[in-house]
Amino acid sequence: MLFMILAVLTLLQHGVACVYVKIESFDKQSGIQIISNVSIIETKFARTRVECAVLCTNDDNCCSASFLSALEQCEFTDACCPDTKQTKGAITIRKNCNQNVIPNRDCSDLPSGSKSGVYTIHPAAGNNISVFCDMETDNGGWTIGFMKDLQNAIYEIILNTEIILQLTTCNDNIYLILKHKAYKVRFDFEAFTGETAFAIYDTFNVLDETTNYTLHISDYSGTAGDSMKDVDGTRTNGLMFSTRDRDNDMASNQRCGIYKRSGWWHAHCTWANINGIYNTNGDRSVHWKSWLGMKGLRKTKMMIKQKT
Ligand SMILES: *[C@@H]1O[C@H](CO)[C@@H](O)[C@H](O)[C@H]1NC(C)=O
Ligand SMILES: *[C@@H]1O[C@H](CO)[C@@H](O)[C@H](O)[C@H]1NC(C)=O
Ligand SMILES: *[C@@H]1O[C@H](CO)[C@@H](O)[C@H](O)[C@H]1NC(C)=O
Repeated sequence: MLFMILAVLTLLQHGVACVYVKIESFDKQSGIQIISNVSIIETKFARTRVECAVLCTNDDNCCSASFLSALEQCEFTDACCPDTKQTKGAITIRKNCNQNVIPNRDCSDLPSGSKSGVYTIHPAAGNNISVFCDMETDNGGWTIGFMKDLQNAIYEIILNTEIILQLTTCNDNIYLILKHKAYKVRFDFEAFTGETAFAIYDTFNVLDETTNYTLHISDYSGTAGDSMKDVDGTRTNGLMFSTRDRDNDMASNQRCGIYKRSGWWHAHCTWANINGIYNTNGDRSVHWKSWLGMKGLRKTKMMIKQKT
């Protein structure tokens, strides 16, 4: 069975910083099989692949890295676009892979027939970012902002590593993409039972950092219900973004970013906790309350597309 995980890690420190590293893997059955010719530049200690990804990202000489969980080793390599297939014991982390550079502002600009995958897009002059494009769902052309796949995270937990996979363009880049054109947003969900549901908002915009990434979202349609609100019925529309260390929510007695374990446009927290943590139920779980209550979801995806 071949699992593919593509992730861009987010570091939510002060403000919002992005680390554009892709993590890709892995074939459960076969042994490690490195197809391309990669030279190892340096080996460093790392406890998790996230740590390894961050080490590689912060080192200019590192073009990609392999994380060997059993050895807690992070091997820096010189190949920017290694074509590798590895087992669960080793994971390839790719950085600055320009294989698919196309001068597109977002995934909606990709030529028709493009496959889902990682592409470099140019939301603004001199600003190149790697994003995952979903070219299949709903006629394709979707730029993925956040993606969580807890099935694989659980697999990781079984392997006794601590990881939450997240693919994000980060708010800075979402803002850059959104500022030129009108966009809609789509959320896709998968429960642990395999059931799926989605929500589309035909109006979606995120303003710049000076507004703390104020969100405009409306015109819901879909099967998952509208969770862009909080327990009091306060709409998410018009709210600022809160993180663990930036308390811009409306709750006076708690910090929603910490309480819900999730950066979001919190009011008195939120019904939409797609950035939550793995949990079968409850406030911190990854949930979309209008669909399955607080029940933890297996997969969530948030993606944007130009309005036609
Ligand atoms: C890998 O690189 C070495 C040294 O450059 C070369 O001799 C070898 O043929 C290469 N192998 C492959 C499979 O490309
Ligand atoms: C960004 O993309 C443009 C167009 O593909 C390219 O010419 C430029 O070198 C890239 N810049 C960086 C910093 O990667
Ligand atoms: C943005 O967030 C910061 C940190 O929470 C806060 O101090 C600041 O007042 C907010 N900006 C606006 C425009 O509300």
